[in-house]
Amino acid sequence: MNKNILCIGAGYVGGPTMAMIALKCPGIRVTVVDVDAQRIAAWNSDLLPIYEPGLEEVVRQCRGRNLFFSTEVAKGIAENDIIFVAVNTPTKMFGHGAGCAADLQYWEKTARLIHDCAKGDKIVIEKSTLPVKSAAAMSRILYSGCTPYHFEVLSNPEFLAEGTAMADLRDPDRVLIGGDDTPSGRMAVEVIVDIYSNWVSRERILTTNVWSSELSKLAANAMLAQRVSSVNALSALCEVTEADIDEVAHAIGMDKRIGPKFLKAGVGFGGSCFKKDILNLAYLCETYNLHGVAEYWKQVVLINDWQQSRFVGTILRAMFNTVAGKRIALFGFAFKSDTGDTRESPAIRVAQMLIEEHANVVICDPQALGNARRDLADWEDRVVFESDPYTAAEGADAVAILTDWTCFKELDYTRVFSGMRQPSFLFDGRNCVNHAALFEMGFNVYAIGKSPRSHVD
Ligand code: NAD
Ligand code: UGA
Repeated sequence: MNKNILCIGAGYVGGPTMAMIALKCPGIRVTVVDVDAQRIAAWNSDLLPIYEPGLEEVVRQCRGRNLFFSTEVAKGIAENDIIFVAVNTPTKMFGHGAGCAADLQYWEKTARLIHDCAKGDKIVIEKSTLPVKSAAAMSRILYSGCTPYHFEVLSNPEFLAEGTAMADLRDPDRVLIGGDDTPSGRMAVEVIVDIYSNWVSRERILTTNVWSSELSKLAANAMLAQRVSSVNALSALCEVTEADIDEVAHAIGMDKRIGPKFLKAGVGFGGSCFKKDILNLAYLCETYNLHGVAEYWKQVVLINDWQQSRFVGTILRAMFNTVAGKRIALFGFAFKSDTGDTRESPAIRVAQMLIEEHANVVICDPQALGNARRDLADWEDRVVFESDPYTAAEGADAVAILTDWTCFKELDYTRVFSGMRQPSFLFDGRNCVNHAALFEMGFNVYAIGKSPRSHVD
């Protein structure tokens, strides 16, 4: 068995994870393949298909040395014995389980392709986030018909967060590898452990059974999202009781049993995975008749949807119950800072709701304007895209901060204020600017989980 690696799927996970393996294992040849020729061309160009701090440097260092991007999926399968599968597993939008279950069509196609193109034994590693028991389905596909080869299916879920992907990959809290407790399963797990051992200490590499590994990924995302929804639910209570959510979060986060991370209240969580993985977890529970458990997790998503509409409700109420014809500058469209990714970004829903209220929406983001244009294509003629925040706010009645980009925290808000119509409103959906100072400047300030500071009441 050769130690060279193939990764099927050159997205937010496949690209950065393989770039890190190539960097840390110069002796291993890593090939990343994708059916999307445009994406592969971008990986081979100076303008990478995704923005991720630190990624460009690593790709530049490894590409052409031991890191290759290609559209030749079948050739890649034939030539490599270790195959990571990092294809997309979005929420299914049709048929049985629509709106909840994982859409496994890309993953299944990949399994069939591996079956058809293999010319020897393979270790197939699930990098995508999948329902529990997916490895069993993968094995059945790989062994369908009569095949002379041995396939060992492992689970090695990815825990990187966008915006910090390279740091997360360089120094992961843990690497999780699930495999069968059989001689061939244990051997395959050791092959993958060896790869990560090149830079991750052995005690941070966990090995479990396959099902624990698959479920741990869904569970980790569900627990993280649940913390955000919990703090966002409390933020609503803060707004009506004069408690301050940042003070509350700080106070509870100092309890070592709770911990300070993932307690930042905001306009709601976004990103391609939290919502999809919780809904997938809930669907999985339902298929095992665990309806109460499913309902419990669904609440995390419902609170998140509510938080987004609540934010727009605050804007409307503060601005005299009408935003029709008013210019509202949205600062940030990415689902978090340091990424251009806008998948499930709260900004999409906020923008749509404001457009429906006939506001003149201006979108400003340092990395996400391309994706924002695609997300709002149906409203193209009712929205303006502007890369300069001062220009975006010129003549605006309100600014709403939707992404905590450093550039928005460091703006000269006196200058922003001077260009705006009066009364000027600032809605901080990320609690990331100095509210007292902005109020002093003349802004009417509305933040998440805090009493409003208003000159107009
Ligand atoms: P993505 O959509 O950015 O990338 C997936 C890629 O797979 C696409 O480029 C697509 O063209 C390609 N693909 C689909 N079918 C293919 C096939 N048959 N052959 C070759 N290529 C194929 O998705 P992503 O964000 O990288 O996520 C991938 C998986 O990783 C998902 O299961 C996701 O839940 C999980 N995950 C994502 C993140 C994240 O931060 N985005 C983090 C951890 C885990
Ligand atoms: C998340 C997890 O953190 C990763 O471990 C996981 O691998 C990944 O999902 C995945 O499976 O895709 P990601 O979605 O990239 O990573 O980013 P996060 O940092 O988790 O942020 C998600 C959303 O929650 C963002 O919209 C962020 O603004 C929001 N958030 C996060 C808050 O509103 N408050 C917080 O305290 C933390």
